[in-house]
Amino acid sequence: MTDTLRILGISGSIRAGSYNRSALRASAGLAPEGMDIDIFDLARLPMYNGDLDGEATPPVVRDFQSRVRTADGLLVATPEYLHSIPGVLKNALDWASRGGDNSPLLGKPIAMMGCVTGASGSRWGQYHLRQICHATDMLPLNRPEIYVTDVRNKFDDAGNLTDESTRQAIRELLGAFGLWIERLR
Ligand SMILES: Cc1cc2nc3c(=O)[nH]c(=O)nc-3n(C[C@H](O)[C@H](O)[C@H](O)COP(=O)(O)O)c2cc1C
Repeated sequence: MTDTLRILGISGSIRAGSYNRSALRASAGLAPEGMDIDIFDLARLPMYNGDLDGEATPPVVRDFQSRVRTADGLLVATPEYLHSIPGVLKNALDWASRGGDNSPLLGKPIAMMGCVTGASGSRWGQYHLRQICHATDMLPLNRPEIYVTDVRNKFDDAGNLTDESTRQAIRELLGAFGLWIERLR
């Protein structure tokens, strides 16, 4: 990589003990040299409301939109809710999508992973996220895919990712993401 890649990380779960939030935190430590991962907490965003879209857009939303715009790529860690993505993640993408031909999401490289307590590994949720990439013209990394199942046995009580195969999968995802961003430049 030629210069530092600045990645914005967002978690589809905002609960304090979220495994997805923990996976993002772990990612920051597993990123290759030359990649920085900055995490934005989606709990800060209000619900999308067309009346607030424009002159009245709250400063926190403007800050989020600007961070998305200036990031070299988006990294999403998300659980699956009802075989889709959680409302908090959809809400964030709704806000970030605004701006028409100047939307911060247009042409934005994105990589994703998901952690769930069950066996789906967030597979359906991630497929819905890929549909949203189509709608917003984001450029998703297709492979590797990361579907983390049975998460209770992969993190310790402090939220540290202890499962070595998941740690390695994240290293590989981030390495591929760096190459993907370089290739798109
Ligand atoms: C409203 C709701 C819907 C859910 N739907 C699914 C689902 O469709 N598939 C699945 O595997 N897990 C589902 N789950 C379980 C979550 O994916 C699981 O709790 C996950 O670990 C939460 O992630 P977190 O630890 O980052 O908060 C659902 C949980 C909630 C609260």
